[in-house]
Amino acid sequence: MNWDLRTFDVLDSTNEEAWRLADAGAPEGVAVLAKSQTAGRGRRGRSWESPEGNLFLSLLLRPAVPPAEAAKLSFLAAVALGETIELAAPGLTGRVRCKWPNDVLVDGAKVSGVLLESRTRPDGALDWVIAGIGANLVHKPIHTLYPATALADHGDIHNPVDFAGWLLARFGYWYARWKTDGFAPVREAWLKRAHGLGQQIVVRLPEGELHGRFAALDDSGALLLELPDGRRQAITAGDVFPVG
Ligand code: BTN
Repeated sequence: MNWDLRTFDVLDSTNEEAWRLADAGAPEGVAVLAKSQTAGRGRRGRSWESPEGNLFLSLLLRPAVPPAEAAKLSFLAAVALGETIELAAPGLTGRVRCKWPNDVLVDGAKVSGVLLESRTRPDGALDWVIAGIGANLVHKPIHTLYPATALADHGDIHNPVDFAGWLLARFGYWYARWKTDGFAPVREAWLKRAHGLGQQIVVRLPEGELHGRFAALDDSGALLLELPDGRRQAITAGDVFPVG
């Protein structure tokens, strides 16, 4: 992939800017990087704290696949992020895990998140997908659902431009692989880093909580939760927490 990296001092949200560019007809491969965001957004309608020093990057993609396939790109982004963190901070090798659906953890604390947004055409075909990636390089938020960390807490200081360059390379590798070989190799790489696989978890959903064992990740990217009665339920959205 030949990335066209566009850098900004401040944006409302790099996803929002990528969205504007996509709607104006920008091609696949545009990457939007901002030093800070005034209205950074996270998954499930949450906001994303965006102070200067951290990474705020959004990738515009136009893969020729159905929307359900494109949704799996969040796993690809998490795998690329995990690899980039280990490249940037070799001392963290083996301590970087992927938490379903698309967070990246260092020593069990969230260091990075992915927000995928897409648009479909009136006929249902995918028009574009934006992979928005935030990483706590220097700062970490205080009041979070899940414990948070930053690379700097581990003695690894990196500037967002260098980090973005490494991440674009790893994402580009996996994106090409996904286009030729499909989701299977991405799923395999994600599972090698999976946090909590086989363990008891709680899934928080808008309508309540589900308890069970994180049994597997299926071919669609859903988390398979083994319920206390042995049935397996596919979870496609929600927040996952360890039990106890
Ligand atoms: C999450 O909730 O874990 C996902 C967070 C994604 C944040 C990134 S920062 C770059 C891009 N622009 C945004 O407004 N959000 C994403």
